[in-house]
Amino acid sequence: LDSSIDVVAEIKRLRDEKNAVILAHYYQDGAIQDIADFVGDSLDLSKKAAETDADMIVFCGVRFMAEVAKILSPEKKVVLPDLEAGCSLEDSCPPAEFAEFKKQHPDHMVLSYINCSAEIKTMSDIIVTSSNAEYIVSQIPAEQKLIFAPDRHLGGYLSKTLNRDMVLWQGTCMVHELFSEKELIKLKAQHPNAPVLVHPECPDAIVQHADVVGSTRKILNAALNSESETLIIATEPGIIHQMEKAAPHKTFIGAPGADGNCSCNTCPYMALNTMEKLYLCLKNEGPEIGLDEATRLEAEKPLRKMLEMSE
Ligand code: 13P
Ligand code: SF4
Repeated sequence: LDSSIDVVAEIKRLRDEKNAVILAHYYQDGAIQDIADFVGDSLDLSKKAAETDADMIVFCGVRFMAEVAKILSPEKKVVLPDLEAGCSLEDSCPPAEFAEFKKQHPDHMVLSYINCSAEIKTMSDIIVTSSNAEYIVSQIPAEQKLIFAPDRHLGGYLSKTLNRDMVLWQGTCMVHELFSEKELIKLKAQHPNAPVLVHPECPDAIVQHADVVGSTRKILNAALNSESETLIIATEPGIIHQMEKAAPHKTFIGAPGADGNCSCNTCPYMALNTMEKLYLCLKNEGPEIGLDEATRLEAEKPLRKMLEMSE
C-alpha cells in the first residue's frame, strides 16, 4: 500500500461515499473496533445486519458472521476484508458428516451455534449464540430430544446448567481450548479478589473457575459493572480493548495459556483482518460474500427463528 495514503481518513471517506456501514466483532484489532460504526457480539451484529439501511455492509469479523449478514440482508452487498477469515468451529463440522449424524438421530431437533457454515444452518431448526442459547433452550419443551452442534463445550455447558440431555457434535474453538487451568489457578492465587469472566466456548475445567459465564457482550458488561479493580478475562483478548477504553482505571488480565501469557489466545482468523485490508475492501467493494438463493433461504429459517426467540 502506498505509504502516503491516510488509511483512517480514506476508510471514513469511502464509507460515506458508498453509504457503507462497518460492523466489527469485539475480537477485532483495536483500530478496527475504533473506526467501526458498531461493535458487538454475534447476536447484536446479526441484528444490526438485519436492520441496516446502508447499501454495503463491511463485516470485520469472520466469514460465517458475514454470511449471516448476507442471509439476513440479501439485497445488500456484504464484503469481508479477508475471505480466509474462517473459524475452527465451522471447520470442525463438515456438512456431509453432519448430515449422516443427523440421520442417526431422526427424532431430534437440531440446535446449532451460529459459528457454523451456511450449509450447517440449512440442516438446523434453530440457531443460537452464546448470549441467547440458555434463553432459547429453556423455551423448548423438556421432552423434545436435541442435537447441539458444533461446539461441544457450549453444548456441555448448556446441558449442565439447564439439566438437559443433548447429543453433542464434538467441535471446539481452537482459541478457547488453549487456556490452561494450571496457569489460571496460579494467576488467581496472585489476584485472589479478581473475578474470573469466562466465555462458554472454554472447556469445563476453565468454566469451573468462573464468576461469570457468557458471551463477549455479557463479559464486557460484567467487567464494567464489577466493583473489582482487577479482573481476569478468559476469552479472546481483543475484547480487552473495549474494557480499557471504558474503564481505564481498572486492570484487565487475559487468562493465560500453557506458556503463562495470553498472547497465544489471539484468534488467528480474526487477526487476518487489518486496517489496510479494510481500506482495500471498501475501495474494491470486495471480496464479496455470495450464496446461492436456495441455500440462503434454507439458512434464513433457523436464523429468523433465533431472532424471534431471543429476548
Ligand atoms: P460472541 O461474541 O457471541 O460471544 O461469540 C464469540 C466468538 O467466538 C465469535 O467467534
Ligand atoms: Fe472461531 Fe474461536 Fe476464532 Fe471465534 S475465536 S472465530 S469461535 S476460532
